[in-house]
Amino acid sequence: MKRILEVAIKTIKESGNILLNYIGEEKEIELKGISNLVTQVDKLSERHILKSIEENFPDHSILTEETGFINKNSEYTWIVDPLDGTTNYAHNFPFFGISIALIKNKEIILGLIYDPIRDELFYAIKNEGAYLNDRRIEVSKTESLKNSLISFAFPYELSLEEKNFIPFINFSSRTHGIRRTGSAAIEIAYVGCGRLDGFWAKKLKPWDISAGILIVEEAKGKVTDFSGNNIDIHTDNILFSNGKIHQEMIKILNLGKIFIRNRNEKF
Ligand code: IPD
Ligand code: CA
Ligand code: CA
Repeated sequence: MKRILEVAIKTIKESGNILLNYIGEEKEIELKGISNLVTQVDKLSERHILKSIEENFPDHSILTEETGFINKNSEYTWIVDPLDGTTNYAHNFPFFGISIALIKNKEIILGLIYDPIRDELFYAIKNEGAYLNDRRIEVSKTESLKNSLISFAFPYELSLEEKNFIPFINFSSRTHGIRRTGSAAIEIAYVGCGRLDGFWAKKLKPWDISAGILIVEEAKGKVTDFSGNNIDIHTDNILFSNGKIHQEMIKILNLGKIFIRNRNEKF
């Protein structure tokens, strides 16, 4: 695992430098959907990560956002988002990252999320804890939703549907506040280090969440679906929290209608 971790850290930081090199430059933007962008830098970063994995671990399978699945019939699969927060990146809004996870059979054994702007590397190794750079991290100790700062992600294809806004409104009146940065991977990492107390999302992809799942779990947080069930990397509705506010978040996520908090409500 030591060598795997070293290669993964070197690779993700090199890709971080690729992202930094193109900040402020004119980007070649293509549309994968109405508001789903991809730039040439997503592809450059991905090519770099693919090359490094293929050179160092030629037998391993790889699943990436832009290339898809490279099947080597291995028990090991790397899962790669070469640029999480492409819309931010395309607008020079400085909030984006890279996410890389390694799965052995069905278990996530390594997860890394790198924010090159702040030079923050979040990573976790199965059963060995979660780290921000060299410091061990844990989720927040916030005991109740009313004292929490939480965040969420909208899927591109559903973001105009009214029902997606229901939890946003219901949480707004029951928390210290809601943040929406545009990089799901970094927000999940922030749950891991206690900057956020919870994060919910619908229809994220394995490359958005795999590294984050391990980071939050190893940071002693909780990850389930919106009903409290165990998840895997394909789970549609996913909830990350510090554990302490998890049940309250599940309750709000399942309200189904807008209920602005009333004064007597015990939240
Ligand atoms: C997106 C970001 C965004 C989330 C989207 C993701 P991308 O990833 O994480 O915050 O709302 O659902 O697809 O496309 O920038 O890699
Ligand atoms: Ca992503
Ligand atoms: Ca991406």
